[in-house]
Amino acid sequence: MQENPAPRAVWSSKLGFILAASGSAIGLGNIVFFGANAYKYGAGAFYVPYLLALFFVGLPFMAMEIGLGLRFNRALPESLHLIAGRRGEFVGWWGILNASVITTYYIAILGWVVGMLIGAFGPLWKPSLAVPAFNMAEGAIPNPFAYFFNMLSTPGTLLFVVLAWVLNIIIVWKGTLTIEKAVKVCVPLMWVFMLILIVRGLTLPNGSQGVRLLFTPNWGVMRNPDVWKGAFGQIFFSLSLGFGIMTAYASYLPKKSDCNSNAMMVSFLNCGFEFIAGVAIFTILFSLSIVPKASTLAMSFFVLPSGIARFPYGVATFGVMFFTLLLLAGISSSVSLVEALASSVIDKFRISRIRALLFVGSGGVVLSLLFALPMVVDASLKDNGTLGLTLLDLSDHWAFGYGLLAMGLAESILIGWVLGAGKLRETMNANARIRLGPWFDVLVRFVAPAVVLAVIVASIAHEVKTGMYGSRMVTGWRPMAAVVLLAWLLFTSGGAFLLSAPQKGKGVRA
Ligand code: TRP
Repeated sequence: MQENPAPRAVWSSKLGFILAASGSAIGLGNIVFFGANAYKYGAGAFYVPYLLALFFVGLPFMAMEIGLGLRFNRALPESLHLIAGRRGEFVGWWGILNASVITTYYIAILGWVVGMLIGAFGPLWKPSLAVPAFNMAEGAIPNPFAYFFNMLSTPGTLLFVVLAWVLNIIIVWKGTLTIEKAVKVCVPLMWVFMLILIVRGLTLPNGSQGVRLLFTPNWGVMRNPDVWKGAFGQIFFSLSLGFGIMTAYASYLPKKSDCNSNAMMVSFLNCGFEFIAGVAIFTILFSLSIVPKASTLAMSFFVLPSGIARFPYGVATFGVMFFTLLLLAGISSSVSLVEALASSVIDKFRISRIRALLFVGSGGVVLSLLFALPMVVDASLKDNGTLGLTLLDLSDHWAFGYGLLAMGLAESILIGWVLGAGKLRETMNANARIRLGPWFDVLVRFVAPAVVLAVIVASIAHEVKTGMYGSRMVTGWRPMAAVVLLAWLLFTSGGAFLLSAPQKGKGVRA
């Protein structure tokens, strides 16, 4: 292997990497999805599949993705090219494109966070106005639900989405340099806000009952394959695995870095944050006896805000803090993929960073706007309400629910069998204080792929039995579910096929 001819940026310190990588891992997933998933899948019982997923799949994949970046010093597609030629590169691009789908709707959601944050300074807490598009009458008390859907059906919201993209591009403008500056502010602040919210939650009357619920197991639900898919999907998403992010970030680490301790640090920071976020959310929900309907977006956009609206004092202050927290957590995540995508494009096409960013940014804005389309397709709100939200929900089902797991499976096969798990383990152990033994190879070659495959197969079987996701939606254009599935497959697979084609005179020099 030749050295990469372009000098590669490096993090200015180990702390820079840890902040950036944990900033990527800690995101909306930790605050919003974890609580909602845990609630949906039987609260306490969710911890068993969750912890199994963390130890058997999460930690090993985190270490592997960081190890890849350290070994090859490149973004994911080129790293996998060095392992398995064009087929490997195809897998790498597939993962990056799948993650890009997630990123575009994630950034659309961040646009809504911006909208709600602005609302939290005042209008959100006023008695609610009528929302004719959704047949909602005027109300005497604040109604974040009405506020949110009113915002979603208003074209002005598209501006917030553009703004969220602009923020992302500004942060990755100079790569590690600007990312490091941003995460040094965002990540610590996010912890502070979270701790304040926990204290608030625990000191609410009956707050501790929420904690009890969070830890009361309900074993019955564990027979449902959805719970396992939920737990494994949550671990991949939450740790930013299967996105190509950790490999890109680790490629900016100095060669002598300790792979295993970095992997553990990032994973534990992430899961620790998730854990305390669960406590904060459950205390608020249960003190104010709101039983969440478990839809993930609902949780952050109106279930929790309705709780905050009933705080005895400081409603606007806590509300602003909550949405700022979501924005900080979300943006330090989304920038990591914008960076992973940009660095893959730069590595492949050898174009300048500015051109790569303009290209990624303009394509991304268009897709994000699609997910924010304000047309009301279901005024009864039995499904999703607006066209954008419906598209988002369907895309999320494939890109998050299946795409990340499929990437995990492909990575473990490429690393475990094609490269040889032992070889990567050598790189990972090279400067590590905690060295991994040969058991790791067994984990990577057999256990991880088998478990991930089992989860995928069980989910598909479930889907075949109950009908394809979205096909029984009450409203809207019936073929939409199938069209979104096809569009996702075409975008990821077709795109990966084109991107992994050799570049004349510019391809990977292996
Ligand atoms: N780990 C993030 C979370 O828990 C998700 C995430 C990381 C992400 N990077 C991303 C989502 C890039 C979209 C784009 O929320």
